[in-house]
Amino acid sequence: MCNFQVLVVLSVTLAAAEGQTFHLGSCPRPSVQENLNVSQYMGVWYEIEKLPAAFERGKCVQASYSLLSDGTVNVYNSEILSDGTVNSIQGVAKVKDPSQPAVLSVSFFKGFPSSPYMVLSTDYHSYSLVYSCSQYFGLFHVDFAWILARTPALTADVIGRLHEDLATSAAAVDAKQLIVTDQTGCDIIIN
Ligand SMILES: *[C@@H]1O[C@H](CO)[C@@H](O)[C@H](O)[C@H]1NC(C)=O
Repeated sequence: MCNFQVLVVLSVTLAAAEGQTFHLGSCPRPSVQENLNVSQYMGVWYEIEKLPAAFERGKCVQASYSLLSDGTVNVYNSEILSDGTVNSIQGVAKVKDPSQPAVLSVSFFKGFPSSPYMVLSTDYHSYSLVYSCSQYFGLFHVDFAWILARTPALTADVIGRLHEDLATSAAAVDAKQLIVTDQTGCDIIIN
């Protein structure tokens, strides 16, 4: 095999091993929330469901967003690991194209590539549907999806509607692939 093929096989194998969801072809382009008001989007969001993401294994997963004076967003993600310790990571998100405020780009480590953070839909005060996708060589892509909420739980009605929105969006995320985040016994996290 040439180096390129080795790289592709390696990347696909890694993606599969990490339990990520990978597909052939380039990233889909789902429509996003129109005129997202980033200020209203700030604050704490609880993770309700997600497409498997190897870097988030704990329970009580939540994200806290705050607007910085330079217009970028401070991102603070936390979770409780199985041994009870709190794991957190801080990053920065920014809107790259002001005409597309619902498409943010998040980076957690300086020098590492950033990941897209697309708000497919939100009402700011109860739920948010988030999608992310990275493509490799235009040959395959790995995607992520999150159902976030302002409260640690959402009603079955709302979740059902969000599943439908995900499935019918261009991202075509199958609700059966989403895993539910445990948001019980989370009092330890101080917002
Ligand atoms: C965004 O929301 C903030 C806070 O509610 C408000 O002050 C601001 O006018 C909104 N911006 C736009 C462009 O609607």
